[in-house]
Amino acid sequence: QGDVFTYDPGFTSTASCESTITFIDGDKGELWYRGYPIEQLADNSNYLEVCYLLLYGELPNESQLKDFVARVTNHTMVHEQMHNFFRGFRRDAHPMATMVGVVGAMSAFYHDSTDIGDPWQREVASIRLIAKLPTIAAMAYKYSIGQPFVYPNNELDYASNFLNMCFSVPAAKYTVDPALAKAMDRIFTLHADHEQNASTSTVRLAGSSGANPFACIAAGIACLWGPAHGGANQAALEMLQEIGTVDQIPEYIRRAKDKDDPFRLMGFGHRVYKNFDPRAKVMKESADEVLDLLGIENNETLKVAKELEKIALEDEYFVERKLYPNVDFYSGIILSAMGFPTSMFTPIFALSRTVGWISQWKEMLSDPQNKIGRPRQLYVGADKRDYVPVANR
Ligand code: SDX
Repeated sequence: QGDVFTYDPGFTSTASCESTITFIDGDKGELWYRGYPIEQLADNSNYLEVCYLLLYGELPNESQLKDFVARVTNHTMVHEQMHNFFRGFRRDAHPMATMVGVVGAMSAFYHDSTDIGDPWQREVASIRLIAKLPTIAAMAYKYSIGQPFVYPNNELDYASNFLNMCFSVPAAKYTVDPALAKAMDRIFTLHADHEQNASTSTVRLAGSSGANPFACIAAGIACLWGPAHGGANQAALEMLQEIGTVDQIPEYIRRAKDKDDPFRLMGFGHRVYKNFDPRAKVMKESADEVLDLLGIENNETLKVAKELEKIALEDEYFVERKLYPNVDFYSGIILSAMGFPTSMFTPIFALSRTVGWISQWKEMLSDPQNKIGRPRQLYVGADKRDYVPVANR
């Protein structure tokens, strides 16, 4: 059991740590970054401004934001030797496998920012990770489709740079649509942090041993990959595509309720939200906007998603268990419409969440009391007993 904290709303929780970064009210479906509701940030802010907020606790003024953007922009390229590192992977490796490997290896390329005892090195590592994760994710994508790596273009904003690195090719002119870049930026913001989820707790736990920041973030990426966590956005779209048409929905609803069937509605349910995930609401609106922008009408997958949500929210099984769409239910539809394969959905989640992981890692390091350190267990195994030689077993 963690320390027991009693919170104002009158409920008691076994919390692993205290934090000032992100607040979730699962019953009300509220999510705040440093006190600012996610809906307001999604509508009015942008990802790098949100990064500053999560890292330093306050929204930046104009000069602070300009300086922060410049610092991130100056670190978007990766060490040229990393290009060779990528070439050691099989082309058909899942981009998440590549990202775990490459981000973990960053400490071999940037060993001048691995000493967590040096605040300046911690800061440089933080900026490097936020700046380079889009480049690494784009390289993982390009490598998986056999296209040449595209270098970052620092004339572009953060989201446009990522889209350009993913979709431009040397042989043809490619211009990033600003409206798509805004939708991409909003997806980054919606995924930036989410309190003590599994991957964030992994980063905190890894960091509590004094491991270098690149190793800690690689551990977070590995944990996020699981289909019950960040891998759900890929699984949710693949599920919607498997359902195919609205008339197939009842069969999948039946399977989701059948305890003998391992099938679950991917993108539904949440460990904390027992109401709508506020990110899912923003994502649903964004899906309509992006499909309109791309001139995609009658998108069957979006139709299935909306009908599935409607049917599930009226079904007693889901209502009783307070199962609502989560952040992963609609995100895949947007990313797929943008041109990303499902294998790139979780890498995009990982690059977005990097700032949350870093902010939580820095908070853990700044307060020794806050270290998860070493969770204890309740031993329920065999009582003490003597060894039996194999001849007597
Ligand atoms: C993310 O923690 C975070 O903040 C994570 C995240 C973040 O930003 O970091 O928000 C991102 O990981 C979102 C969640 C993505 N995962 C999925 O969409 C996968 C599908 N969802 C389920 O695996 C599940 O809902 C969990 C794991 C997300 C949450 O599980 P809970 O809340 O612990 O629920 P549970 O496993 O205890 O199940 C409660 C009941 C069970 O039925 P009963 O035993 O009571 O009869 O609800 C059922 C479950 O069988 N149930 C589902 C279901 N989710 C739960 N039934 C059908 N479909 C589902 N999706």
